[in-house]
Amino acid sequence: MSPQFGDYQYEIYLDGLRGVVPDLPMEFGELERRAQSALSPSVWSYVAGGAGDETTQRANVRAFERYGLMPRMMVGAAQRDLSVDLFGIRLASPLFMAPVGVIGLCAQDGHGDLATARAAARTGVPMVASTLSVDPMEDVAAGFGDTPGFFQLYTPTDRALAESLVKRAEAAGFKGIVVTLDTWVTGWRPRDLSTANFPQLRGHCLANYTSDPRFKELVPSGDPMDAVRTWVGVFGNPLTWDDLPWLRSLTDLPLILKGICHPEDVRRAKDGGVDGIYCSTHGGRQANGGLAALDALPSVVEAADGTPVLFDSGVRSGADVVKALALGATAVGVGRPYAYGLAVGGEDGLVHVLRSLLAEADLTMAVDGYPTLADLTPEALVTQARQ
Ligand SMILES: Cc1cc2nc3c(=O)[nH]c(=O)nc-3n(C[C@H](O)[C@H](O)[C@H](O)COP(=O)(O)O)c2cc1C
Repeated sequence: MSPQFGDYQYEIYLDGLRGVVPDLPMEFGELERRAQSALSPSVWSYVAGGAGDETTQRANVRAFERYGLMPRMMVGAAQRDLSVDLFGIRLASPLFMAPVGVIGLCAQDGHGDLATARAAARTGVPMVASTLSVDPMEDVAAGFGDTPGFFQLYTPTDRALAESLVKRAEAAGFKGIVVTLDTWVTGWRPRDLSTANFPQLRGHCLANYTSDPRFKELVPSGDPMDAVRTWVGVFGNPLTWDDLPWLRSLTDLPLILKGICHPEDVRRAKDGGVDGIYCSTHGGRQANGGLAALDALPSVVEAADGTPVLFDSGVRSGADVVKALALGATAVGVGRPYAYGLAVGGEDGLVHVLRSLLAEADLTMAVDGYPTLADLTPEALVTQARQ
């Protein structure tokens, strides 16, 4: 039987009978406030901030308010099944952790990538591990336990380096490669610009590069400043569709393209043989054009025509997860919420955030009478005027 994620609430209420109340936040506003106190100002501004005046970032979140889930009664949804098949892997739920390049710095001990991997092992919620990592991908993957993990590639301009990173991910046991397309150049981020703060330029989160045999060839001196300079030179590859056959040739693992919002791009990706489409506006961090990722999702799903669609940007609650699923997402990712959980309560705080999202999604499906993911279709949603 599938786990009943909603049972997390009984643990909390039963603890209450012993006089124990949760010391971790139960709602997103408090989580965010406490994360701000826990993190240094520079890490906080990097994680919480976005592009321009953050219109896209807010739109991502607010787009969920325009949908209401229609309650259906007398369904008898006593058992829910949130399990999903993704690239031939059976997952207990459709929730995953989106790649967060400074997650390492969000943990008090500076090894948040490893804590996130352990949280994935404890919850069954997969981690998409960023190229930008405090610890090398092999050490991160070693923490996954039985939970599958995915590697997110920022495609370097040096093709041999790209190849080396992908081969290492394969050897480390990752189950898919997520290529992020929207970040070959950093978006205009006023919060970070106002403090001239860019963690990688200070040498942070570059372990996947400095541990890489090909990168070492590019930096024979091994000097950290040379490494940063070389990294700046190779980081961002402004890929075109002509590069897709090469990307596809790098691996037999499932290949997923992240940052896709236009149906025409979905079709081109499919023509190029990708296994998954990842609809995202990068949490509003890259371009402030104002499009909420959720508003792009229905036409992406339609164009994907059965190819799995991963989704993120703006998910703040279990109800949001349910809405994205109803709009056709195969799997739903969170970024900042789990980074904040890690900042506030370490590995346990992260696990709490994931369990809370799953519990709320599960209980929403229970109360509203949608016991399985197959029951969640666009017909389950009603569009409503913005509150
Ligand atoms: C601090 C931070 C760092 C990120 N780093 C990466 C990254 O390294 N690679 C990537 O593909 N996306 C990265 N993202 C984007 C996330 O994968 C995801 O698209 C986004 O956070 C989802 O939006 P949300 O934060 O509203 O949940 C980052 C997001 C944040 C907040």
